[in-house]
Amino acid sequence: MASMDDDHVTSGCLANATLVLDDRTMRGAIAWSHGIITAITEGTDVPDGATDCRGDVVLPGLVELHTDSLERHIEPRPGVDWPHDAALMAHDRELASCGITTVFDAMRVGSVLSGGKMAYVEYARGLATEMLALRAAGGLQIEHFLHLRAEICSETLLEELAAFGPQDGVGILSLMDHTPGQRQFRDISKLRAYVMGKRGMDEAGFQAHVANLQRLRDAHGDAHEAGAVAAARRIGAVLASHDDTTADQVAVSARHGVRVAEFPTTFEAAEACRDAGIPVMMGAPNVIRGGSHSGNVSALDLAGAGLLNVLSSDYVPSGLLLAAWRLSAVWNDLPRAVATVTRTPAQAAGLQDRGALQPGLRADVLRVRDRDGTPSIQRVICGGRTVA
Ligand SMILES: [Fe+2]
Repeated sequence: MASMDDDHVTSGCLANATLVLDDRTMRGAIAWSHGIITAITEGTDVPDGATDCRGDVVLPGLVELHTDSLERHIEPRPGVDWPHDAALMAHDRELASCGITTVFDAMRVGSVLSGGKMAYVEYARGLATEMLALRAAGGLQIEHFLHLRAEICSETLLEELAAFGPQDGVGILSLMDHTPGQRQFRDISKLRAYVMGKRGMDEAGFQAHVANLQRLRDAHGDAHEAGAVAAARRIGAVLASHDDTTADQVAVSARHGVRVAEFPTTFEAAEACRDAGIPVMMGAPNVIRGGSHSGNVSALDLAGAGLLNVLSSDYVPSGLLLAAWRLSAVWNDLPRAVATVTRTPAQAAGLQDRGALQPGLRADVLRVRDRDGTPSIQRVICGGRTVA
């Protein structure tokens, strides 16, 4: 971690490094000043004051569009509400240590108050306000944006969305429909294992939970979907789809103006995304484990077919860089793999000022040493400042 004394230092140079450029790697140096990359030069020279990386890989800081990490810090055990500023800062430092320099913090909007033991209560507006205040006060070390996960199958989605406006700078709004029996949980046995394990529920309780969610989908689904699409337009957020399973669902997403597809669950959906020009995001844990924990399509299979464009750490922040390393082995192409965690997600989210090692872009830079195929982070620079 940077010391207090380093706080104002936003200039530096990493030399004699293996730089990951857009389309190739190059032995050379990268310099930055006032938080912006100023020069990329070829060769093994180490100028005065520069750090000799001795061949370590230097790549852009990672851009994470969808992580549950903040929720885990806020509620470290079911029912435990951890002090929010402390949780936000611990989350921020955890991501920094994983090489993530830009994060879209996922927060659920749309609650299920009638769910008994499975109730989901509202929290997003309050937490977003706390995050924005901490960010404005300089309390966070990496760049944070908001990602609202709009749960279509809920009771309060439209009221919760109405509490957000353009001034909140919401980066992404994703359309989530976790109704049992479709999309992520087309196989209900996977949902049963997930919620009965997580919430300690018996079979009768599970059946009641499923029936309640299906009732909510029937009662509110169409209005919620239309309302969420309208809300994304009103507040200026990039629209994301989530768990699309069929080509028809992808066609609907394309009509809504979706710009990134989170975790399509089948080959059919991923191919439809490619045909519609929608980048496909898959979970890093899926790459690392060699399959989906919900029993859906394997990210490595999609990668092999050229249908994977973006990785997200999903529920394991440290998995993002590791998964990019695995993809680089599959594709035998490090720049292409690195783009899935840097340039492509940045562009999908509308951020043009980052995601590549290029003069004029933000100095978000990682130094990584390869240890027998496992990446080991040596230094993380965000906006020119060392944050880990
Ligand atoms: Fe999902």
